[in-house]
Amino acid sequence: MNTDFTPPQTSKCLLYPSEYRYVPVSYCALSNLKGDSKQVISQLRDEIAAVFDIGDSSQIYLFDSASSAIIALLATLKAFSKIKKVYVPSFSCTELADSVISAGLALCVYDITDDFRPSHDFVRSLFNEEEAVLILPALFGSRPVEAELMNLIDQLIMPVIFDEAQSFPMPPQYRGTALNSYFSVISFGKSKPLSSIGGGALIVHRPDSNVMFKEFEPEEGDIRQGDWLPHLASAVRRQLSRYAWGRKAIGFQYRYTNLEALHSAQQFHVREPQWITLLQARMALMRLRTFQAYKQRQDMHVARLLNTLERTFGKPSLQFVLKRDRQCLLPIRVPNHKRKAIGIYLGQRGAQTTFYYYPLHKMERYRQLFQLQECGNSERIFGEILLLPIHADSSPRHINKLERIIRQFYEHTTDT
Ligand SMILES: Cc1ncc(COP(=O)(O)O)c(C=O)c1O
Repeated sequence: MNTDFTPPQTSKCLLYPSEYRYVPVSYCALSNLKGDSKQVISQLRDEIAAVFDIGDSSQIYLFDSASSAIIALLATLKAFSKIKKVYVPSFSCTELADSVISAGLALCVYDITDDFRPSHDFVRSLFNEEEAVLILPALFGSRPVEAELMNLIDQLIMPVIFDEAQSFPMPPQYRGTALNSYFSVISFGKSKPLSSIGGGALIVHRPDSNVMFKEFEPEEGDIRQGDWLPHLASAVRRQLSRYAWGRKAIGFQYRYTNLEALHSAQQFHVREPQWITLLQARMALMRLRTFQAYKQRQDMHVARLLNTLERTFGKPSLQFVLKRDRQCLLPIRVPNHKRKAIGIYLGQRGAQTTFYYYPLHKMERYRQLFQLQECGNSERIFGEILLLPIHADSSPRHINKLERIIRQFYEHTTDT
């Protein structure tokens, strides 16, 4: 299967823009000098509780990433509930698989439906398992779990982790309301809805389980300030790459020609979970407070883009996005044999694209460690996805630019 990258020739629409970070990073870096971590952490927990409709902010624990939150949670479940293995969809990020390994547990993969969920039969097959955990990522945006599937999940006796890194915000109806052994994990990473400079949180939905997680409360002095210079440098670098002379000066180019090569070069490192830093917490707080207003401004423009996509590539191209209430990322579905040509067309006009996710069961570094089952549907979906440069932080101007480039593809193909 072809996984060649098609780098953009100019940087009109980049996948993960970062210029918006100048001001907040500079502001947070300055206010960092003042300290008072306790107050910032408690404000951030309160804000998450309000947005996510969590009854009590003491059910929220903050880490330096969603991965850290998952590792800490899995390690605790392993110690308290004798958990031995974790079910992760084969179509999901390597951070999830690596977190399972870092927690010292066995990785099991499962296949997904075209809706990116486990099949009903698969969930039924887990009914009597006790010593496992099921992870359910909600990819590309927020939407409720369909009622029949939720009903089956409610019958599981194993703990369930709703990985909400990409589906923020997530009110209770999205994850079910039963008081089972449910956990949610959110991320403040760069490609996530909140798109900040990292950080993450674990939400324990059953308050009586909180005793298990007492050690996740940082002590006075545990919270580091956090280094602001690399974030500012990366924002400046990305900004410079917008100009041809800037790209020449900083050498904006891809290190790998395709996704397979990128994954083969990656190595696995066992990680220890870390607390959120004060800088991450300040940025997350700031971003959370402006998030809702920002999203509303964006929605209108995304609707127009979706219209153009439907006219250009047909309604099935939107199969992966239409069911979401809100997009975090915008994956279109295109036949595998046309994907590269579309990527090249967009790249030539400055729109950067990529693929998600190389199926875990195909990766040698996991196959060497675990017996992973074949997941044909995940492979098919992976072959059809093209991720467009739309993101929670895309400005209306950026969205309209992309819309124009795609509209021209339509005109270009109907002309010829
Ligand atoms: C679905 C999903 N879960 C978890 C993570 C890990 O998040 P973080 O980068 O905050 O560790 C990612 C990261 O890309 C993700 O896409």
